[in-house]
Amino acid sequence: MSIEAKIAAGSKAVEFIKSGMIVGLGSGSTAECFIQALIESGLNIQAVSSSRTSTELAKRGGIEVVDINSVPRIDITVDGADEIDPLKRMIKGGGGAHVREKILASSSDEMIVIVDNTKLVPSVGTKKLPVEVMFYGSPATRMKIEELGYQGKWRQNPDGTLLISENGNLIYDMHFTSPPKAPEHLHEALINIPGVIDTGFFFNMAGRVIVGYPDGRTEIRR
Ligand code: A5P
Repeated sequence: MSIEAKIAAGSKAVEFIKSGMIVGLGSGSTAECFIQALIESGLNIQAVSSSRTSTELAKRGGIEVVDINSVPRIDITVDGADEIDPLKRMIKGGGGAHVREKILASSSDEMIVIVDNTKLVPSVGTKKLPVEVMFYGSPATRMKIEELGYQGKWRQNPDGTLLISENGNLIYDMHFTSPPKAPEHLHEALINIPGVIDTGFFFNMAGRVIVGYPDGRTEIRR
């Protein structure tokens, strides 16, 4: 993956933002390229943010970040993805912010997805699926997840302690040896387990998909 590809995708997305809009800010390195380009554009917008890091970056650049609970609707959310397939099914949550990202995306008139070309996969589920799980009863919840036939591990901080999401929950990274045949069914099975907050699968949410390439080119998929 190249930073040039991420910058290209992030900068292109700014072309779809207009002054006066309420803009949802995703999380991760590609979303940060978008936030940086948005700051440099000088557009007069209000933002809602999916993570502390994105909030801080936006505020430092002079963007007004408002509380999600104070806006009924978002015009456009711009966010990255860990994987996206030709059906625009995605896996997100590499940064552990997928629950908030999904709330922003589903409250937006459009979710614009920005990815570098390494994120394009034939079918979602090539590496791992982040699943946010309540700490309360988490060993039992994990057992039920693994009874579906998958293995994984709790996400940790660099010092080996358990990572706690901004929502106060654990993240279980479920590993795939091959992409699931029916990711929609797997998502349903997972969210039906008490204690599972949400998975990193995003279906029917992506609007325009901007793919950035290392030579600075972008391609827009609808
Ligand atoms: C954050 O929780 C994620 O959903 C990110 O959007 C995703 O991991 C992509 O991140 P990068 O842009 O850093 O690859």
